[in-house]
Amino acid sequence: MAISLDFSGKVAVVIGGTSGINRGIAELFAIHGAKVAVASRKQEKVDDTVARLQQLGADAMGFVADVRELEALEAGLQTVHERFGDFDIVVSGAAGNFPALANDLSGNAFKSVVDIDLRGTFHVMKAIYPHLKKPGASVINISAPQAFIPMKAQLHVCAAKAGVDMITRTLALEWGAAGVRVNSVVPGPIDGTEGMARLAPDENIRKMVARSVPLGRLGTPEDVGKVCLFLASDLGSFVTGTILPVDGGWSQNSCGGMSDYLGAAAARKPAG
Ligand code: NAP
Ligand code: COA
Repeated sequence: MAISLDFSGKVAVVIGGTSGINRGIAELFAIHGAKVAVASRKQEKVDDTVARLQQLGADAMGFVADVRELEALEAGLQTVHERFGDFDIVVSGAAGNFPALANDLSGNAFKSVVDIDLRGTFHVMKAIYPHLKKPGASVINISAPQAFIPMKAQLHVCAAKAGVDMITRTLALEWGAAGVRVNSVVPGPIDGTEGMARLAPDENIRKMVARSVPLGRLGTPEDVGKVCLFLASDLGSFVTGTILPVDGGWSQNSCGGMSDYLGAAAARKPAG
C-alpha cells in the first residue's frame, strides 16, 4: 500500500503555532492539505499566521489564549471544533525560556516557565481530549534536549520539559486504548528562532553550536515539521510514547559546549 502525506480533510491544531518552529510545523501541515488552527497570546501574531496559512491554500483559523488559562483554551478549542470537527493532529509547543543560574531564579521566574511549559501542556492535553478523533488522533508535544540533558542556567526549563516528556509517556499509556497516539518531538538548535536568539545571541556562538552538531549544521523549522508529518501520518501508526530528537545528533553529543557556555554567560550577566 502506498502511504500518502496528503492531509486533505484532516484537522491540525497547533498551540503556540504563531512563530518559529511551531509556525513552521503549522505551515507544513497547511502545504500538505490540512485545515489548520493556531493559538497563542498575541492577536497580531495569530492574525498574521492565519493569513499566511490561507495564502498557502489552507482553510485556517486562530484564537488567542494563554496556555496558563485552562478556560481560555477550552473556549478557543470549542470554536475550532464547531468549525472544523474532530482534531486529527494536535501539536502543543508553547514555551518560555531565558538563561538564568538557579541561584538567580526567583520563585516566580521558576514558576513562569513551569506554568507555561509544563502546566500549559497539561492544560492543552486536558482541553483537547474531548475533541480528538478516536481512534486515530496523533498528539505531538514539543519538548527540548534540556528534558534529558542537564544544562547550566536552564534548571527551570530542564525541570519543565522533563515533565512534558513524562506527560507524553503517561498519556501514551492512558490514551492508547482510545486509539490516540502521543509522542514528543525534541528539536535541536533551530536557526532563526526566538529560542536560539535567547540562548545563542551572537554569530560566534551560533557557529560554535553548529560545529557541535554531528550533522554539522543548525536545523530548520521544516526539519522538525517533516518529522511531525511522519508521526501524524500512517507512517507513524504504531509509534506512541516516544521521545524523538530531531537535532542532527546534538543530544548524543550532550549538546556540545552549550551548558558551559550558558553557565559562563549567565554568571557574567546580572539576572533580570
Ligand atoms: P517561539 O517563536 O517563541 O514560539 C513560541 C510560541 O508559543 C509562539 O507562538 C508564542 O506566541 C507562543 N506562546 C508563548 N507563551 C505562550 C503562552 N503562555 N500561551 C500561549 N502561547 C504562548 O519559540 P521557538 O524557539 O520557535 O520554540 C518553539 C518550541 O520549540 C518551544 O516549545 C521550545 O521549547 C522548543 N524548542 C526550541 C528550540 C530552538 O532552537 N528554538 C530548541 C529546542 C526546543 P505568543 O508570543 O503570541 O504567545
Ligand atoms: N533572568 C531571571 N529572571 C527572569 C528573566 C531572566 N532573564 N526573565 C524573566 N525573569 C523573571 C521575572 O523577573 C519574573 O520574576 P519576578 O516576578 O520575581 O521578578 C518572572 O521571571 C516572570 O517574568 P514575566 O516577564 O512577568 O513573565 P511572563 O509570564 O510575562 O513571560 C517569559 C514569560 C519570562 C518566559 C517570557 O520571556 C515569555 O513570554 N517568553 C515566550 C517566548 C520564548 O521564551 N520563546 C522561546 C521558547 S524556547
